[in-house]
Amino acid sequence: MKTVLIVGHPDLRSSRINAALLEESRSLEDVHIRVLSDLYRTDSIDIQAEQDAIAGADHIVLQYPTFWYAMPSILKRWLDEVLTRGWAYGTGTPGALAGKSLRIVTTTGGAFEGYGPDGLHGWEYEAMLVPLKATARRLGMAWQEPLVIHGVRELDDAGIRRIRNSFHELLTETREEHRPVENLSPFEPANS
Ligand SMILES: Cc1cc2nc3c(=O)[nH]c(=O)nc-3n(C[C@H](O)[C@H](O)[C@H](O)COP(=O)(O)O)c2cc1C
Repeated sequence: MKTVLIVGHPDLRSSRINAALLEESRSLEDVHIRVLSDLYRTDSIDIQAEQDAIAGADHIVLQYPTFWYAMPSILKRWLDEVLTRGWAYGTGTPGALAGKSLRIVTTTGGAFEGYGPDGLHGWEYEAMLVPLKATARRLGMAWQEPLVIHGVRELDDAGIRRIRNSFHELLTETREEHRPVENLSPFEPANS
């Protein structure tokens, strides 16, 4: 089982948490890592290279800091450019990512308690993930339980060690929820 980790932090030099998660993932052999800010800080995205990297994977993990309740623009650009029609969807057959799993790992400055109808942010964090869930569904991918790490500014060294361990386990665990392609929702005809 191969995992590709797409890291969508725009500037890891200023990162405490995503940089620590990245360092943790580098200790794992079967995880192929793509740090978008290293690969494409100024250059345009190499769509073929990105498609090749994820086409060969069983699991795709998107890791990013939450910016304005969404993903940073570098990762949105990656999604917009790499998940092309005729490749990821609109093929008349299952697209290139059908049957693979998608997991979100994200960090927030806001505390867990702030995410809810009565909290500072007014919505559960889950609501922020609807566009990504819809994307997974549309592409025939299996959505996996996200790892949302809240209140990261409050994390001390022991807290960072704990989240590194959770992330490590999550990347290595057996994916029992992984569904075979034939059990996924129907794909669309080529002209949709
Ligand atoms: C432009 C910007 C927007 C942000 N928006 C949010 C937000 O909507 N919700 C939230 O909880 N934290 C928000 N934050 C805080 C970041 O999520 C937090 O700084 C980040 O997860 C820390 O990770 P790092 O140490 O890897 O940089 C924002 C930070 C920046 C710089």
